[in-house]
Amino acid sequence: MSTPEIRVEGLHKSFGDNHVLRGIDLEIGQGEVVCVIGPSGSGKSTLLRCVNLLEEPQQGTIVVGGTELTDPDVDIDAVRRRIGMVFQQFNLFPHLDVTENLTLPQRRVLGRDKAAAEKVAAENLARVGLADKAHAYPSSLSGGQQQRVAIARSLAMGPEVMLFDEPTSALDPELVGDVLAVMRGLAEEGMTMMVVTHEMTFAREVADRVVFMDGGVIVEQGTPEEVIGNPKNERTRHFLSRVLDPAMAEVDDVPGKTAE
Ligand SMILES: Nc1ncnc2c1ncn2[C@@H]1O[C@H](COP(=O)(O)OP(=O)(O)OP(=O)(O)O)[C@@H](O)[C@H]1O
Ligand SMILES: [Mg+2]
Repeated sequence: MSTPEIRVEGLHKSFGDNHVLRGIDLEIGQGEVVCVIGPSGSGKSTLLRCVNLLEEPQQGTIVVGGTELTDPDVDIDAVRRRIGMVFQQFNLFPHLDVTENLTLPQRRVLGRDKAAAEKVAAENLARVGLADKAHAYPSSLSGGQQQRVAIARSLAMGPEVMLFDEPTSALDPELVGDVLAVMRGLAEEGMTMMVVTHEMTFAREVADRVVFMDGGVIVEQGTPEEVIGNPKNERTRHFLSRVLDPAMAEVDDVPGKTAE
């Protein structure tokens, strides 16, 4: 692997008595696309939020692009500027048009002037296939278009790393493909990406590596072919059988039941 762009070592995070992350070690190389999969509550979002310092871990080290985020003296705002994050919810400002949604954070956080910010906004709207929506309001866009605006807003900040937390799970099925296509394009451009997703086809086709989490640990990781195609661990197999065949999940969904 090239120099890791993201390095997580011995990461622990609890909420009260709930020990959610129980010693995560993970390295993501420059330009690498890592998909994180796993059952609900396994700590996927918490891991992603720690990598962006939206959550403060109790123990462990996180380094992004050579800067240690877990250093108490770190300039959190400076680090966050280098890390883009896209959530399930798009969180666009409804009273601002698309261009204004993209220029506001550039002007506030990066201090760009209006003309420069609008130029970057236009470039990134084109990148997500929405150049013609520059002056639309979010309420007039489909969920998939709104999510692509949210991705463009993130890209306009010039991040080194993009984190995605189930970016397509709030979308109607017919809108998922356009968002995944944008993400695939980013991967091809060489963006370093960490993607929490239930889209197994996307993970198979786009990820360099798939990480399976359960119970706050990484149970198994490897190429998509290894982890999704030929999982070694019983917990991974159990999870995949439920995700790949949703009908199974309902029959199988006994609270408190674990695979081992
Ligand atoms: N801010 C919080 N305060 C308290 N508990 C939290 C908080 N965020 C997450 N948790 C708990 O941490 C555990 C892991 O949650 P997390 O959201 O990381 O799981 P996940 O793998 O992303 O699940 P899902 O697939 O449902 O999104 C859960 O038990 C959850 O209730
Ligand atoms: Mg989550």
